[in-house]
Formats: sequence, C-alpha cells, structure tokens
Amino acid sequence: MVQFRYDSVFSLGEFGLKKASFEAQISKLPKFLELIRSRGQGFIDLPDDAAMVRGIEEYAAKVRGKFDHVVVLGIGGSALGVTCLMDALKHPYWNELPKQKRKQPQLFVLDNVDPAQMAQLDDILNYKKTLFVVITKSGTTPETMSQYYFYRAKMEKAAGSIIAKKHFVFVTDATRGVLRGIAEKDGIPCFTIPANVGGRFSVLSPVGLLPAALLGISVKALMAGARAQRAQFLDSRYVRNFSFQLATIQYLLQKERNISMTVMMPYATSLGSLADWYRQLLAESIGKAVTRDGKKVHVGLTPIKALGVTDQHSQVQLYNEGPRDKLTIFIEVESLFGKNLTIPSAKIASPEMAYLKGVTFQELMSVEKRATERALHEYGRPTATISIPKITEESLGELFMLLEGSIAFLGEYYNIDAYDQPGVELAKVYTKKMLLEDR
Ligand code: PA5
Repeated sequence: MVQFRYDSVFSLGEFGLKKASFEAQISKLPKFLELIRSRGQGFIDLPDDAAMVRGIEEYAAKVRGKFDHVVVLGIGGSALGVTCLMDALKHPYWNELPKQKRKQPQLFVLDNVDPAQMAQLDDILNYKKTLFVVITKSGTTPETMSQYYFYRAKMEKAAGSIIAKKHFVFVTDATRGVLRGIAEKDGIPCFTIPANVGGRFSVLSPVGLLPAALLGISVKALMAGARAQRAQFLDSRYVRNFSFQLATIQYLLQKERNISMTVMMPYATSLGSLADWYRQLLAESIGKAVTRDGKKVHVGLTPIKALGVTDQHSQVQLYNEGPRDKLTIFIEVESLFGKNLTIPSAKIASPEMAYLKGVTFQELMSVEKRATERALHEYGRPTATISIPKITEESLGELFMLLEGSIAFLGEYYNIDAYDQPGVELAKVYTKKMLLEDR
C-alpha cells in the first residue's frame, strides 16, 4: 500500500505551512469530490472496465511469440505512460537482454520526429518481426501520423502491402480522426480510448495497457492497484485521501509561500520515467490562463524531474540554497530489487571509508534520501514523501491514481479546467500553416 507523509511542512516556521491553514481546507473536500464527479472524466472509471482488459489480454495472447520488436508511435500522453510502465516494471536493460532471457519483444517508444532516431532504429529492426502500435487519441496528431505513414511505407516495402497490415495495431478514438478511418478501411485491429479520457490521463486505457500487455506486464494487477487507490481518492475523509492531501499542500505552499515548483524525485532509477509522466500531467493540467468563469489568472505549478541519489550531485545545491520556490516530493521504495547487494567490508582498508562497511545499497539509497530530506528541512525547504513497498504493477496502479486524483483536486482549488490544453494549439496551427504556405 502506498503511504504519504508531509508532516515536515508544518515545522518550517515562516517557510512552511500552518496546520490551521491546512485544516481550514478540509471542509472543501466533499464539495470538491462532487465537482470532480460532475466533470465526467473517464480516468476515474477506467479500472472497472473488465471488457477492455479482456480485449487487450486476448490480443496480446494472439500475437505472443510473433514479434521480436514492438515500436510505439505516439507523443505526449500517448507515449509517456508507456515509457513509464516499461521502465518501472521491466528489466533496466530490457532491450539489450538476449532474446532467450527476454521471452517478450523489445519495446521502442518513438515520441519524437527526430529523423536520426528513426533512421538509426533501422539498425535494430527486422521489419518482418516488428509490430507497430500507433497511439493517438485525436487520430490526427502530425508527429504520430507522419511516423505512421513513414513506417507503413517501410513495412509494405519489407513485407508487401497485404502482409504489412498485420504489423500494425491502433489505439485511437472510437469514431473521430484519420487513424480510425484507416483502421476501418484496411481492417487493422483498433483499440478505443474512451472519449472522456484525456491523453495525459489515459495510461490505464489501451494507451498504456496494450503495450504493457505485449511485454507481459499484468494489466489486471495494475487495475487492482488503481482501484484500491481510487477508493482513497474518492473518500471524503481527508486522512484517507492522499490525492487531496498532496493537492492541498501544493496549493497552499503556492498561495501562501509563493512556492510554484514541484520537484518529483524518485529514489529508484526505474521510476525516473514516472517523474516524466507526472511532469506532463501537472504542467498541461494546471498551467492555465483563465478560470472556469473566464477570469484571467495565468496559474500553474512548474514540474521538475529529479532522480535520487544521482541528482543530489546535480540539483540539490539549488534546492537547498537557491530561491525558495520548490516543494520536493520524494518517491521512496521500501524494498528495491537487488536490495541485498552489499558493499564488501573486506575491501575497505581506508578508515575514511569505514562507514560504508557492510552497508547494503538499499540502505545507502534510503539513508541518502533521509539525509537529503533532513538537509532540505534544515534549509527551510518543504518536502513530502510518497512511499511504496515495492515496484510492482499494483503499486504503479496506485501511484497513477493518487497523482491523477491530486491533479483533479488542484483543478478545483484553482477553479480551472484541468482537462483541456488550449495552449498547445497555437503552435500546431502555425506548424500546419508554415508547412502549407512557407515551404
Ligand atoms: O494530454 C494530452 O491530451 C496531450 O498531451 C496528448 O496526449 C498529445 O498531444 C498527443 O495527442 P494524441 O493522442 O491525440 O496524438
């Protein structure tokens, strides 16, 4: 079970929060829950969709053993969750492992239109053993569609136009968009992203679940974890509701102390991509110009990704002594894979290094996290910790739901629409215009 601790924000004097101002927010919780329900956002109900899970598992079983490489074409919310699942739940050197050890395909997520990345992937792919998973909710995103056209042509060249179709599967809207039309015309299998599930809230839809299932990740366990945490996110008792607690400290620190940045710092390399996923979720959801009633506000919390312990030697100087504008959220794992790896005492001759004798790497990681937390506290910098017992499907499902829930609460605190992204449009319009008119 996920745990959340944030008590230290109340013992920072003038730099932290007063317990009373936190307590004054608690009465808002039932009303916020009502409002969140009234927004009709589908991410809340995804973990109940047994038919979706069944369809994904059936497809994964059908193609098992047929492909050596899976290439995901998608961007933003259609890519970050997939990368997070793969990095968190598969071997850290997954794509480099020999095939006999992997037993499932390699996975590549192409979330950029950098031609170097695409051209050089050809050094690895055997097209006859490759499945392309094309993910785009709108079905018209230029980055994803351009890659689709490119790889469809490549596949037709490698396998012929009839066989090529068997090397694609799509994830898109039920009716809208160009990709859905192609699926229907060419008879390409196509999974649906429910209309009321936004891109960055879609990791527990086929967007994240289909690639996960293709890698042998237990989709059912992910959903079970999400359901368990959803019960807390929808609980009107604030002590149970970690999503509400997190949103409340973020909101109050910004309002009362001008702390406008949220650092997410997992102490596990494999959770680095969770911080990337959260970076989009917080930035696109809460960075908004107007309130729901049209008042200009230009609110937002700037997300920062950091990795423990690595970034202690890169970022922590700034977090301790730089501007007082950051809340650091640590993600702590109680039991890491390889937790018994130990620093061998016999090798340590120097008295200066004797404190490392017989220490496990798990202990080192955990002590360094606590030491960083303590140092930040002494500098008067707020921190909070989300801890999980282990990195598993269940705990990932819980983390996704806890964090998505916190965004829903932040949306209500700021009275903004956390589910749209109008600020992304303008550059898209100019890209199209420039390609049509300025070439
Ligand atoms: O959160 C969002 O809605 C966006 O980040 C989208 O995920 C991103 O723009 C990709 O869109 P699409 O899935 O339509 O290709």
